[in-house]
Amino acid sequence: MLIKNAEFICSNTEVSKLPEPSIPEYAFIGRSNVGKSSLINSITGKKGLAKTSQKPGKTQLINHFLIDKTWYMVDLPGYGFAVTSKKNRADWERFIRRYLTQRENLQCVFVLVDSRHEPQKIDVDFCCWLGEKGLPFMLIFTKADKQSGVKSDQNMAKFRKTLSQWFEEVPPTFLTSAEKKEGGDAIIEVIREINAN
Ligand code: GTP
Ligand code: MG
Repeated sequence: MLIKNAEFICSNTEVSKLPEPSIPEYAFIGRSNVGKSSLINSITGKKGLAKTSQKPGKTQLINHFLIDKTWYMVDLPGYGFAVTSKKNRADWERFIRRYLTQRENLQCVFVLVDSRHEPQKIDVDFCCWLGEKGLPFMLIFTKADKQSGVKSDQNMAKFRKTLSQWFEEVPPTFLTSAEKKEGGDAIIEVIREINAN
């Protein structure tokens, strides 16, 4: 475990109420149920730190966790939750997009993608939006324990190929399993590298 200390700081819907942007920040985003909160718990080694659920739509707020007193890890609500109303979806779009575009200490957005599926339009579109806004991002493929490594590799390769239609350079990709606590260390290492520069 590379993280020694992780503590919950606050939950917010408004960008104006977020903690002071005085230290580097990294956000975890992706479809509802992709495993954002589970991955945060697995990486920090704290089971109940971020709230998880089998039902999509669990995380509704911007949740800040302070890691080793030096940087923030942020758990965000998921997108693409089919049951949510149109108004809810519009609200999500507005407040999350405002957070992503206005948060000055945000170093990198980690986009989580389910490794069991072929590239989904909603994920590709979201990556393209980040690209248009000039927001640095990396890809984390989740739930690797649910199928063979070959299948995960194929889906990751297809996703990279799809993105390469729009991006000159496809961002780094990570394969993880929150269930098996695998793949988290590489993410922490990359965050530490960014923090050091
Ligand atoms: P929202 O907050 O609703 O957007 O969802 P989320 O992306 O935070 O997903 P969450 O972490 O709550 O996990 C959703 C479901 O997927 C839960 O039932 C988890 O136990 C399961 N899950 C998450 N990660 C993994 C994984 O790596 N492997 C397996 N097998 N299940 C996982
Ligand atoms: Mg969640």
